[in-house]
Amino acid sequence: MRRRHSPFGDNRKMTAPPKRNATGKSAAVKEKNDGPQTCNVALLGFGTVGSSVARILCERSNTHLRLTHVLNRNVARKKVDWLPSSVLWTESIDDVLSSNADIVVEVMGGLQPTEDWIRRALTSGKSVVTANKQLIARSGPELIGLARQMNQQIQFGASVAGGVPVISGLHDGLGGDELFKIRGILNGTCNYILSQIEANGIPFATALREAQKLGFAEADPTEDIDGLDARAKLAILARVGLHCNVRPESIVARSISAIDSIDFEYANQLGCTIRQISCAELMPESKGKAKQLFAAVQPALVELASPLARVEGSQNLVVATGKYGGETVFGGHGAGGHPTAVAVVSDILAIARSTTITTTTSNAAQPAETTPTVTADFTAKHYLRFLVKDRPGIIASLATILSQSGINIDSVLQKPGCPKSHLPFLITLEECKASLVEQALQQINSLDFLVQPCLHLPIL
Ligand SMILES: NC(=O)c1ccc[n+]([C@@H]2O[C@H](COP(=O)([O-])OP(=O)(O)OC[C@H]3O[C@@H](n4cnc5c(N)ncnc54)[C@H](OP(=O)(O)O)[C@@H]3O)[C@@H](O)[C@H]2O)c1
Repeated sequence: MRRRHSPFGDNRKMTAPPKRNATGKSAAVKEKNDGPQTCNVALLGFGTVGSSVARILCERSNTHLRLTHVLNRNVARKKVDWLPSSVLWTESIDDVLSSNADIVVEVMGGLQPTEDWIRRALTSGKSVVTANKQLIARSGPELIGLARQMNQQIQFGASVAGGVPVISGLHDGLGGDELFKIRGILNGTCNYILSQIEANGIPFATALREAQKLGFAEADPTEDIDGLDARAKLAILARVGLHCNVRPESIVARSISAIDSIDFEYANQLGCTIRQISCAELMPESKGKAKQLFAAVQPALVELASPLARVEGSQNLVVATGKYGGETVFGGHGAGGHPTAVAVVSDILAIARSTTITTTTSNAAQPAETTPTVTADFTAKHYLRFLVKDRPGIIASLATILSQSGINIDSVLQKPGCPKSHLPFLITLEECKASLVEQALQQINSLDFLVQPCLHLPIL
């Protein structure tokens, strides 16, 4: 019997016959010698993703997966007539834990009681599938450790990029390479808003309001706009693809809220566009120095020719770069009930399959995980957009401060015909460290001709 590798690299021991867990129940799917067996699935959460998972489980007749339980708070209002009458609707986690469900699917979201319930499911001898990025980014290693201890599995393919199979792609498809860089567009809300500002020349606030009206942005959009959602996903990708143990809080996240339509005009003049980019890159190791990971989630200029520039609306895209295989691109629907449910059902099937295929495998195949120092101090070209009350000598003042910091100006651009009281113009800088620019900007932002603080974006 083969047990599937966990994407976090800590496989359970490969032993047959099927295990008995602490409660004495048989683990995961029961073994049978005569063809495919039924795998019982319990669903925690019947919202956008949960109802789509239920729909797929009921409509696809050839998967041998059987939905047995749907748990939700105030469950009566959730009941639908398209699920078989055999499904038990419940508000009690104990009903699920004491049942014959083989796999518990968590699609409620939030950190609690979710984490407790996942722990209890694993210790009750059930494998778990979850779409919960915040939980996996924070507690993934501990939950996987518990799963291993209980000889169960936990899969979380839907937690990053919704329906795009990037986690299995990095772990299985590119496991033979030595990946050193992952760049991506991991938040569909930000991408939708930026695409709208670009396409329609509208202000950020208008684009956000429209996204909220259409259901592409939450009533409280902070997690998305400020990059907190994407950095949880980036922490998961860094672990799966780069084998780096990274806390989401250690990744710098910058908001997209200062981007204006004028920035797209200037970016286009530079042959670029602006996207919220999540980037994690391992630096080559130098003797005696701790491993370094550059990681950040921020709005950035990307060349129009880059695949990242062509991501429109709420799509997601991840570009993984390896020492041997070069660049590999994963793209598609990063959110939405059905696409995300596909990833969830694929994880369920992977667990179900892994209990029935007989192969041998070795834990030694997994690269060791390291805990690098995390920095956002990228060396890059930089875009500085100013909004000023015009007067003579502005460029000279800025150039003096930049040159005192050892920073070289590459170009200066000014759109003609703008009001003198709110004059936007652009300075691009030659390659230098982001920290140098930030230092210079502390001085620059106190200059009295600035109408608002300078917008600083890296040019990737
Ligand atoms: N939606 C997407 O496109 C997407 C994409 C990728 C990943 N995900 C992840 O998938 C998970 C679910 O997302 P979703 O969009 O389906 O959320 P959702 O529509 O809000 O559904 C969550 C469901 O869980 C129920 N629930 C929440 N807390 C509960 C609790 N303590 N006890 C019992 N039931 C509870 C909710 O009940 P109420 O109706 O009472 O609120 C709701 O029915 C989240 O972790 C999310 O990050 C979502």
